[in-house]
Amino acid sequence: MAPLDMTPPLIVAIDGPSGVGKTTTSKRVAHDLQLPHIDTGAMYRAIGLAAVRRGISVHDADALERLTAQTTIDFVPGEPPHILLDGEDVTSLIRTPEISMAASHVSAVPAVRRALVRLQQELGRRNGGVLEGRDIGTKVFPETPHKFFLTARPEVRAQRRYKELIAKNQPADYDTVLAEAVQRDRQDSTRADSPLTFDDSYTVIDTSDLTMDEVIARIVDRVRCSILP
Ligand code: DC
Repeated sequence: MAPLDMTPPLIVAIDGPSGVGKTTTSKRVAHDLQLPHIDTGAMYRAIGLAAVRRGISVHDADALERLTAQTTIDFVPGEPPHILLDGEDVTSLIRTPEISMAASHVSAVPAVRRALVRLQQELGRRNGGVLEGRDIGTKVFPETPHKFFLTARPEVRAQRRYKELIAKNQPADYDTVLAEAVQRDRQDSTRADSPLTFDDSYTVIDTSDLTMDEVIARIVDRVRCSILP
């Protein structure tokens, strides 16, 4: 009988505020380390979309708890990854400013977080992964030694988000994008359950004046160095 492989799956946590470049960074880090890329924000966005579609208030915690219990979210890693809401592919529908804000609100509800954290842990334990989010290193996989917190000045983040929206032909106004980014950060950092934060177990990278390649190289090099025998 072949010996059991007891190596725990490799988990890389990439946390940080909106528009800091987590998705592009995580995708390329995952590619370089040959791991699945798991975008946990997409799961909160899917619940936000479900709430908006059903006319459920994003502030009604009881209704959101019931909604989450009745809803099936599937995250299918790949290039690009797909997010399914009750079997429907909603990958592109969750990327609007309205759903960004809805996701931020629903993510403050503890029952929503419990369900999605469980899903994220199951996915990560299956094949490892580069997980991007707000609480990966604090709540989802606090035991992983590979934790990175990306930051950037709000204006830099808003500029990046603005360019993304324009590139996708979505209507965008820089000042509105900046105001929404600041508001979403405030909500995500001040909520009672699992606020956006980091501690000394993280490597903090200010990406404001770095290229994407530099950020990715720092993360990949650090992970590789720490897993070398
Ligand atoms: O990363 P994103 O912008 O797609 O995330 C959408 C919202 O989901 C964000 O405002 C906060 C929330 N979120 C969270 O609370 N925890 C995570 N692990 C990921 C996202």
